[in-house]
Amino acid sequence: MGIIEEPFGLQGRVAVVCGGARGIGRGAAELFARAGAKVVIADLDQPALKEASAAIDAIVPGPLAVATDVSVKAEVDALAAQVVETHGRIDVWANVAGILQFGPIVETTEEDLDRIIAINLKGVYWGSAAAARAMTPAGRGPSSTSRPPEGRCLPRGASPVPVTGRLGRRHVGSRSLFRTMRTLFLRGLFWSEN
Ligand SMILES: NC(=O)c1ccc[n+]([C@@H]2O[C@H](COP(=O)([O-])OP(=O)(O)OC[C@H]3O[C@@H](n4cnc5c(N)ncnc54)[C@H](O)[C@@H]3O)[C@@H](O)[C@H]2O)c1
Repeated sequence: MGIIEEPFGLQGRVAVVCGGARGIGRGAAELFARAGAKVVIADLDQPALKEASAAIDAIVPGPLAVATDVSVKAEVDALAAQVVETHGRIDVWANVAGILQFGPIVETTEEDLDRIIAINLKGVYWGSAAAARAMTPAGRGPSSTSRPPEGRCLPRGASPVPVTGRLGRRHVGSRSLFRTMRTLFLRGLFWSEN
């Protein structure tokens, strides 16, 4: 049995999956639903969002599907606000939205690179910030990890990753920002400890 097939409970928890309409994100959303979470999927692709929502509804009724472009901070913030307004909390936030673009580096246009950075880098950054903001007011400091929830939804060992609501000006600059970004790329999923 693979690690993400091991049983874990998310009853009463609220799980947000950005990029949840297709692929890995949809798989994660369905997994969270099977674990009992109230699921929110956010994606650019509205037809796929509708289809995924119907599939999740068959597992746990009433998923929220929100058309969102993760590269736009205002849209990500609005998503988090809508989830908190609807469900009162956010326990799990998965930054899975992303794009892949293959091609020779010499043919990459400035527009191509800007789009990749906007979605794959800024999208993760804005998502993590919105989630951290939503998780911390209730004193439920988020923990970051690439592992699935275990036991009481606690990651194995609290991660020192600075995606914990302390992501402030001190982290914006030189090596610290680079490390934050690298970590965000590697660890797109995090959840509240409590
Ligand atoms: N599939 C793999 O083997 C693999 C391996 C390593 C990394 N990845 C990365 O993981 C991520 C997900 O992979 P996947 O295979 O599920 O891809 P996918 O294309 O099947 O799904 C990505 C989802 O993100 C959504 N999306 C794209 N841009 C968006 C935006 N700006 N705002 C909101 N939603 C947006 C898409 O509509 C889609 O539903 C990608 O970033 C991919 O590069 C995938």
